[in-house]
Amino acid sequence: MTLNEQSTRREFLRRSALATAAASVAGSLPLGAFAQRGVPQRPIPSTGEMLPVIGLGSSKVVEEIAAKGSDPVLGVLRALVANGGKLVDTWPRNADNDAALGRVMAMSEFNGKLFVTTKVDQVGKDAGIAQFKQAQKLYGRQTLDLVQIFSLVDLDTHWPSLKQWKVEGAARYIGVTVSQPSKYADLERFLAREKPDFVQMNYSITERDVEQRLLQVAHDRGVAIVINRPFMNGAYFDKLNGKPLPVWAAEFECRTWAQFSLKYILANPLLTCVLTETANPQHMVDNLVTALGPLPDAAARQRMREVIDGV
Ligand SMILES: NC(=O)c1ccc[n+]([C@@H]2O[C@H](COP(=O)([O-])OP(=O)(O)OC[C@H]3O[C@@H](n4cnc5c(N)ncnc54)[C@H](OP(=O)(O)O)[C@@H]3O)[C@@H](O)[C@H]2O)c1
Repeated sequence: MTLNEQSTRREFLRRSALATAAASVAGSLPLGAFAQRGVPQRPIPSTGEMLPVIGLGSSKVVEEIAAKGSDPVLGVLRALVANGGKLVDTWPRNADNDAALGRVMAMSEFNGKLFVTTKVDQVGKDAGIAQFKQAQKLYGRQTLDLVQIFSLVDLDTHWPSLKQWKVEGAARYIGVTVSQPSKYADLERFLAREKPDFVQMNYSITERDVEQRLLQVAHDRGVAIVINRPFMNGAYFDKLNGKPLPVWAAEFECRTWAQFSLKYILANPLLTCVLTETANPQHMVDNLVTALGPLPDAAARQRMREVIDGV
């Protein structure tokens, strides 16, 4: 291909990407538009069950239930499911909000279509058991797909409870979460002595510490890896505010800064699923659609790191 042809092709890709982005931003992109292609899936190593690679971090939209009612969470869940997503990560905190989330997830349209997680974040065995029972009740589910110990809180106390719930069938899978480097050494020690089904850790184009060891360690232990904080809980967008996306990002069908971080993360084959937290159905679609297109290769990922490190 001549240089001229290359630049014409780049321009074509750029224009196509802009046209799609414009349609998306204008809201004219129908939910479910990509359902026929479906979001790619990756296997959970302990069973081989497949999970779509983009999931929902529900904390923000569930917190907003008190002020805005249940319609926003219903909209986000519909966007998730209509576009082939499944995983809903929850963090029980407010009983009224969690009960409202439970009623939405129990709607017949979501039957068999969600993979629902919960977390234990209390100190003390009885408090952990009570929190899990409360989640079962408020979510209207005797069996949660995944029960996690939040940020390794009271890990040695809760881990035997989680193992028991798995044996009893109250948890299909069990695991732990971290979201900051200060917990990585503890997590690695835990992975050396126990074999959870899942581990959740923070990773993004701006927070790349887990590339050093932890992703590989968890993968080698046969653990499904779920990623949190892909956008640093929104701080990533503040950092990039007003900065133009590099034109070459269109070469791997990247149209937004959100997709820039997600494509960087998804290009890592070691992980299973990326949680994106949103209260906006259009953002849920945008995040799911990211997984359909091409992913950056090693050279492109290096350029991406340089862009972000230079901001
Ligand atoms: N220790 C733990 O267990 C732990 C810790 C942290 C997080 N997590 C899990 O990980 C999930 C995600 O991490 P996070 O809480 O740090 O949030 P995040 O996904 O890094 O960032 C969320 C922010 O990004 C915005 N956003 C999402 N998609 C967007 C898009 N396409 N375009 C523009 N803005 C977009 C959201 O705003 P809009 O509402 O406007 O879209 C929201 O303000 C959490 O919900 C939770 O499930 C777990």
